[in-house]
Amino acid sequence: MLSTYFAEHKERFLNELFELLRIPSVSADSKFKPDMRRAAEFVRDKLTAAGLDNAALHETPGHPVVYAEKLIDDALPTVLVYGHYDVQPADPYELWNTPPFEPTIRNERIYARGSCDDKGQFYMHVKALEAMLATDGLPCNVKVMIEGEEEIGSDHLGNFVAANRDKLKCDVILISDTSIIANDVPSIEAGLRGLSYVEVEVVGPNRDLHSGVYGGAVHNPLNVLCQMIASLHDEKGRITIPSFYDKVDELTTEERAALAEAPFDEEEYKRDLNLKAVFGEEGYSSPERASIRPTLDVNGIWGGYIGEGAKTVLPGKAQAKISMRLVPRQDPDEITELFTKHFISIAPPTVTVTVTPHHGGQPYVTPTDSVEFEAARRAFREAWGKEAIPTRGGGSIPIVALFEQELGVKSILMGFGLDIDALHSPNESYGLFNFYKGIETIPYFYKHYAELKKTGVEA
Ligand code: BES
Ligand code: MN
Ligand code: MN
Repeated sequence: MLSTYFAEHKERFLNELFELLRIPSVSADSKFKPDMRRAAEFVRDKLTAAGLDNAALHETPGHPVVYAEKLIDDALPTVLVYGHYDVQPADPYELWNTPPFEPTIRNERIYARGSCDDKGQFYMHVKALEAMLATDGLPCNVKVMIEGEEEIGSDHLGNFVAANRDKLKCDVILISDTSIIANDVPSIEAGLRGLSYVEVEVVGPNRDLHSGVYGGAVHNPLNVLCQMIASLHDEKGRITIPSFYDKVDELTTEERAALAEAPFDEEEYKRDLNLKAVFGEEGYSSPERASIRPTLDVNGIWGGYIGEGAKTVLPGKAQAKISMRLVPRQDPDEITELFTKHFISIAPPTVTVTVTPHHGGQPYVTPTDSVEFEAARRAFREAWGKEAIPTRGGGSIPIVALFEQELGVKSILMGFGLDIDALHSPNESYGLFNFYKGIETIPYFYKHYAELKKTGVEA
């Protein structure tokens, strides 16, 4: 019995996750390259131990992809599980209450970088598969692909997928790398935002200048950059780049009403983030602003003197990193181009502006009346005793749209995180409840998916 197996192996599941969390697999920083490989090898070995076949590392020009499979019957549908073993940098380390790569439990939560995003979440699949294989067996064929470059844009995974179309052939992709509304309000994300990310540089004089000797007579690049950035939004919170909204999918009143079914408490939201007031595009609610609407945000801005005390300097250049979250039908390359053209056009003649694009990702949306979405709903119903609410996510998983392009297959985003998990922030955590409940929910997805595929019952 699955439940007996879970009860008997619960502690080991957690100990293994801790072992994985101790490996600092930060994909962005080359000093962790050996740890990236160690994490990949750990995942490979655990997939083998779980009973999967052909578990191996596949090299890419970047970090390796881990792949394994259990093919039991051609007549059964095939589920491809996707996740990522890489994590975001843990900086700033001094803001962690306990070290990021020494997992610790406090208040029934696992504190560590990657505890939720995505080690804790993809590891639930490894353990659910192990349990299924050790007890009743699998009702579907399974392929597992865990990559190491999600947090840096999955640059090499696209090629890997294109080069391995047959190997990765499947009927549905199952991913746990998103969030639910609350532990008593389960939900399923039916969409993700895309991403366009640029770095800008504004160069003025050929060196940093004395702000007394030159100030007032030489245009300050940091002042210029701030003005340029400020002009990118109008007073209604809309982005001013021409044609930026041309391809934005506007939701129907019915679709917006359906999304508004999800409970949202603005007071709690403000309290949680210590906000004096919410903010955003006129005419939309906070959940809408953070999911179905595109954004433009400065991620970092620098130049001049930021050390201790005061230095009177007029900086020679100013820089910023800017991200734009995109919604369905907006294309990251097109948006990057629109941004670049516009940003250069608004530069005053006193400075030189360059825009360098970074990685991007396509937005994604999936219908909520498909067999696979219904299987996820039924899995939540059975494991949680509650109806899961369809939502739209604000984050991005660049490979999801690419899966659809390359494999012609939809992804089900069956994530179990919470907003309070602090992904990418200091003190990231993942609830023990969510880890165990996720492991319990996953086998129900396989069961219902296999049944729905067999009987052909439409949702
Ligand atoms: N797991 C997140 C994405 C996510 C988080 C989706 C919460 C929905 C809810 C993923 O690892 C991530 O952080 N993606 C990056 C994109 C990437 C190109 C760096 C993101 O959204 O910033
Ligand atoms: Mn993730
Ligand atoms: Mn992430």
